Amino acid sequence: MGAVSRHGRLLLVAVLVGAGVFTLGVPPAGGEQAAPQASAKNERIGADVCLQCHTQNAKGWFTLRHNRYRTSASAPEMLTGCEGCHGPGQKHLEDEKFRSILNPKRETGIVATQMCFQCHSTTMKASAWLQTAHAKNGVNCGGCHEMHTDTGQPSLLKAEPTKLCLSCHPDQQAQFKLNSHHPVLEGRVACTDCHDPHADGTMSAPTLKQGEDRCLKCHQEKRGPFAFEHQTSLAGGDDGCVACHKPHGSANPKLTAYFGRGVCLQCHSDIAADPKHLPRAGNCWSAGCHNRMHGSSTNRLFIN
Ligand code: HEC
Ligand code: HEC
Ligand code: HEC
Ligand code: HEC
Ligand code: HEC
Ligand code: HEC
Ligand code: HEC
Ligand code: HEC
Ligand code: HEC
Repeated sequence: MGAVSRHGRLLLVAVLVGAGVFTLGVPPAGGEQAAPQASAKNERIGADVCLQCHTQNAKGWFTLRHNRYRTSASAPEMLTGCEGCHGPGQKHLEDEKFRSILNPKRETGIVATQMCFQCHSTTMKASAWLQTAHAKNGVNCGGCHEMHTDTGQPSLLKAEPTKLCLSCHPDQQAQFKLNSHHPVLEGRVACTDCHDPHADGTMSAPTLKQGEDRCLKCHQEKRGPFAFEHQTSLAGGDDGCVACHKPHGSANPKLTAYFGRGVCLQCHSDIAADPKHLPRAGNCWSAGCHNRMHGSSTNRLFIN
């Protein structure tokens, strides 16, 4: 008694799913656990079978643009259907708990992402991806991309890009509300204008080169060339623009990292004790002196 054919189980679960009961480890009919026949092989069962139980994925799955190749006759079988990403499903059906199939959500590192690199290794390198802060902290492709339903977002994103980033980075949201800020919440600048979500380096503090290229893309007048370049900003210093600016937002005007002359004293601390530089109205630049701090073609001291 209690021995239920796989087909019988399949129908049962399908019925439960249809009734909105989609629970873990639905027991086989009869209440008694039928010892699963452990087969050595793990064969493909086809997307039609998957969709009988996983009905939440059924809606529109075949029409998703991402699946055009996967459902075309010219694609190699191993890349087609649900199993092109999740691997063969036979053992999954034999497993009482319905595990025994790759769930990228439960995995980290290469195991969680190699399904994507089967096809995306020409534009993205797995080795580089694994170095990113996201990969190292268990944020996989599925953390940002939706593979089963059409969200209507570009690049198969789970949500509108900036909202998606902020959902995991709430601290940054506060920075974009400070007095002076990049208009990200206003929708005029996107997180991805500055951050490449797939690359290391640009993902964390951008390197000088990457950082400046990204800033200068929009602030071209700061590019120069200048006869007199300020070493920190344009000629190979380590910090580039972020030596003086908070890229997200700052309580100080013009996104400066420190208030007034504090910006300059970070590096020119000797000036604080220099009698020629006694405090007067304004600061190093607003007093009418070094107001070409981004570089000058006329004055070595960046004075107008
Ligand atoms: C007989 C019904 C049935 C069929 C057919 C079926 N599944 Fe499942 N699957 C389930 C149930 C039930 C669960 C457990 C759901 C849960 O944990 O909430 C599950 C879980 C999963 C999981 C998560 C596993 C885990 O360890 O978290 C994946 C991925 C999955 N199925 C993919 C597939 C794919 C791909 C196919 C087709 C090759 C498929 N399923 C066919 C019923 C089915
Ligand atoms: C392009 C690759 C890809 C294809 C094709 C694909 N999936 Fe998935 N699937 C994923 C990824 C990635 C995740 C993990 C999502 C996450 O991290 O949130 C996942 C997760 C799942 C889960 C587990 C959800 C959970 O919350 O634990 C189920 C069930 C599932 N897929 C079923 C299917 C079914 C059924 C099909 C075919 C109709 C299918 N998948 C096709 C990539 C794919
Ligand atoms: C069977 C091969 C294959 C697999 C596996 C695959 N992709 Fe794709 N992917 C493609 C193709 C082909 C395109 C281009 C489709 C198009 O032009 O619409 C694409 C495009 C994309 C795009 C860009 C869509 C757009 O609108 O610009 C994203 C994002 C993407 N894939 C993410 C993933 C992720 C994440 C995975 C793993 C969970 C994955 N892909 C697995 C073949 C694949
Ligand atoms: C932190 C969020 C995030 C994660 C994690 C992520 N992506 Fe993306 N992905 C994006 C965003 C945002 C875009 C759109 C890029 C843009 O607009 O500049 C994108 C675009 C894409 C594209 C289309 C454009 C392109 O660069 O080719 C592909 C393909 C892609 N992602 C694949 C993947 C794969 C594969 C993984 C896992 C190895 C992954 N993504 C992980 C956020 C993410
Ligand atoms: C104008 C360019 C720019 C925009 C737009 C931008 N960032 Fe950044 N972000 C940077 C730079 C540059 C750094 C490195 C800061 C440093 O080294 O001081 C950074 C650092 C970070 C960090 C690392 C932690 C930290 O604060 O140093 C996170 C997380 C982050 N950004 C998330 C976001 C999110 C989320 C968005 C969109 C809501 C966003 N960024 C928009 C330029 C930008
Ligand atoms: C699913 C959650 C999640 C999403 C979505 C997400 N991130 Fe992250 N992000 C993380 C985690 C976790 C870390 C690593 C811990 C940390 O630095 O907070 C991280 C780290 C970062 C860092 C710092 C990298 C470093 O080296 O310190 C930046 C920059 C960043 N994310 C930008 C983005 C951008 C831009 C987006 C949107 C395209 C995004 N994140 C979407 C979770 C997420
Ligand atoms: C996608 C384009 C874009 C990129 C990339 C960009 N910015 Fe901006 N930046 C803007 C916009 C738009 C404003 C707001 C201008 C306004 O409100 O009139 C702004 C404002 C500023 C301001 C304040 C100007 C003021 O008048 O208050 C500073 C400083 C600044 N950006 C520095 C940077 C730095 C440093 C980087 C690189 C980390 C950078 N920007 C990258 C578009 C960009
Ligand atoms: C040596 C410190 C320093 C560096 C490095 C620096 N800035 Fe500035 N920047 C300032 C100060 C100080 C102001 C405020 C000037 C003012 O109040 O008029 C400013 C103002 C700005 C402004 C708004 C006013 C204007 O002049 O348009 C933008 C945009 C800007 N910086 C972009 C950049 C970019 C892009 C970089 C990197 C290429 C950069 N800055 C590097 C100190 C610096
Ligand atoms: C991140 C470090 C750094 C910051 C911040 C910085 N500087 Fe500089 N500055 C340098 C370096 C390096 C030089 C070239 C070496 C030198 O002459 O000391 C330089 C040179 C100068 C010179 C030319 C000195 C000479 O004798 O040729 C002036 C003037 C100057 N900076 C003014 C400023 C002002 C004003 C600020 C604030 C807006 C500022 N600097 C912020 C690093 C910095």
